[in-house]
Amino acid sequence: MRFEEIISCVPPCEVLLEVGCDHALLTLLALNKGICKSAIVSDISDACLSKARENLKSHENCEFYVCDGIPTQANADCILICGMGGHTIEHILSGYNGSATLVVSPQSHAELVRQKLAEMGYAICIDRCFEDKGKFYDVIRAEKGSSELDELQIHFGVFYKEKNPCLKRKLERRLNELKKGKDANADKIKKISEVLLWQK
Ligand SMILES: C[S@@+](CC[C@H](N)C(=O)[O-])C[C@H]1O[C@@H](n2cnc3c(N)ncnc32)[C@H](O)[C@@H]1O
Repeated sequence: MRFEEIISCVPPCEVLLEVGCDHALLTLLALNKGICKSAIVSDISDACLSKARENLKSHENCEFYVCDGIPTQANADCILICGMGGHTIEHILSGYNGSATLVVSPQSHAELVRQKLAEMGYAICIDRCFEDKGKFYDVIRAEKGSSELDELQIHFGVFYKEKNPCLKRKLERRLNELKKGKDANADKIKKISEVLLWQK
């Protein structure tokens, strides 16, 4: 389900690069669906890349790199960066100055990633919250282009004014936690309540 949701945001492309691929099951799904013609996968861990080699062994059109962040040799028209925290994805994006389509799914701190994409001169065209096995995820697709995001868009998604039952459930849950918790943060409660007005 998480894999399907993420891959549904990848546009048809020639070369897909997955950074932080681990088992490379996302790339495998994209190849099997014919969304990309060939793939490059990379990971900071050699052991993870071995899993990727095994899972992609039936596909000849794949390249493999062990490195921190985006391999400098890689020439891809779409880059997928998923399953890492917002700080790590922000770090990975900092080393990139190309113009490929970016599909990212941070496990936390999505606001750092949205902010970074705007600073890099990327416009977010998909920004979707989804739920899988009781956990909430964000998946974002961005293309080169300018964008100005306000604070609520950075924190809750570019399209927070559009109705999304998943975003509503996520924010209601967060609001309850904040209201119960000792660290009840009036500013956060105010912002979440403002977004929830759009989700009624
Ligand atoms: C939880 S896995 C995610 C796998 C896959 N992308 C997914 O979403 O299912 C995170 C992977 O990112 C790799 N990773 C972490 N920091 C990295 C970095 N700076 N550069 C490249 N890979 C990194 C880890 O070694 C790990 O294999």
